[in-house]
Amino acid sequence: MYNIALIPGDGIGPEIIKEGKKVIEATSSKYGLEINWIEYPFGAEHYLKTGELLPNSALKEINDMDAIYFGAIGDPRVKPGILEKEILLKTRFYFDQYINLRPIRLYKGVPCPLKDKNPEDINFYVVRENTEDFYIGIGGRFKARANQDHLEVLRKLYKAKIQVDFNLEQEEEVAYQVGLISKPGTQRVIKYAFELAKKKNLKRVTSVDKANVLTNIYGLWRDIFEEVSSQYPDIETEFSFVDAITMYFIQRPEWYRVVVTPNMFGDIITDLAAMIQGGLGIAAGGNINPEGVSMFEPIHGSAPDIAGKNISNPTATILSGAMMLDHLGEIKAAQAIEDAVEKVLSEGKVRSHDLGGNSSTIEVGDEIVKKLKEV
Ligand code: IPM
Ligand code: MN
Repeated sequence: MYNIALIPGDGIGPEIIKEGKKVIEATSSKYGLEINWIEYPFGAEHYLKTGELLPNSALKEINDMDAIYFGAIGDPRVKPGILEKEILLKTRFYFDQYINLRPIRLYKGVPCPLKDKNPEDINFYVVRENTEDFYIGIGGRFKARANQDHLEVLRKLYKAKIQVDFNLEQEEEVAYQVGLISKPGTQRVIKYAFELAKKKNLKRVTSVDKANVLTNIYGLWRDIFEEVSSQYPDIETEFSFVDAITMYFIQRPEWYRVVVTPNMFGDIITDLAAMIQGGLGIAAGGNINPEGVSMFEPIHGSAPDIAGKNISNPTATILSGAMMLDHLGEIKAAQAIEDAVEKVLSEGKVRSHDLGGNSSTIEVGDEIVKKLKEV
């Protein structure tokens, strides 16, 4: 029996999570799993009504559970950054979910925006670091003269040879945000990427950075990549600058097997990667702490413009559910979901709006459940 925390969240979150839950329940009855869902109301609606975002008491409760199944967060009524930082990022950080695993796979039957690229050309993993880099939340905004504390911070930074291109005594608004990576934080994510390659028998790991400009932070990243990779002599390695990899994802996606990336670049390149696998409606992900509580969610956001219309594509969420079962060791049940999704996509009879069809959110979920009985 598994205890799963359910956080549907905002926008299309509730409708896609409903389908994901339905598919997992259908799989569970087939494979004899028992799932106890513990649903939480956190998100914009709850925040606007109560002022509460995500209390530590809930995180403590979830700490005893097996995983989190998460819909989406974000609402036009709330200033950007509040829900994202205080709900989603808070959870990633609290449980130290240091891996953001995003499989990029073009399924048969899914239209690909790249000319002449087929399912066999687009099938790789992005392993995104998930707790460091520019996501650590250290920074500030201030007017130099108005705020002495911040001025002090800036002076210290200035002495540390960080270039600040203005006169400190002038009253000008200033903002700074610090990116930081640690040796252990980098070692563990790169090691995970190599272990994944080994487990899946994939022979190349690509490291993403911008070590030609941000020489300190990504210089350390590179040193650690080289150190870790030396323990995997059978796996080919390469470095790629982040700007270049956006080009290569379009030009030759077939080259990639496992791509390991710092947090912020990983955020950006996985939206791009989602598009080449047929769009955000398909792109699944997991925030993983191999030793702790992990959280599974689609890459996409809450899509408030189409919320409540029953036209969103629940596939990314359903595939994230499969990743969750796989993570829990229910390999067969996870595979069954992926096979069912694959069948529905390749048949194309039931097809969501984003993929050019007109099936509803619920119809897509129902069709996947139907196919589950056949796989
Ligand atoms: C993602 C999202 C989040 C991120 C936001 C909502 C905080 O874009 O999961 O990719 O930047 O990690
Ligand atoms: Mn993102």
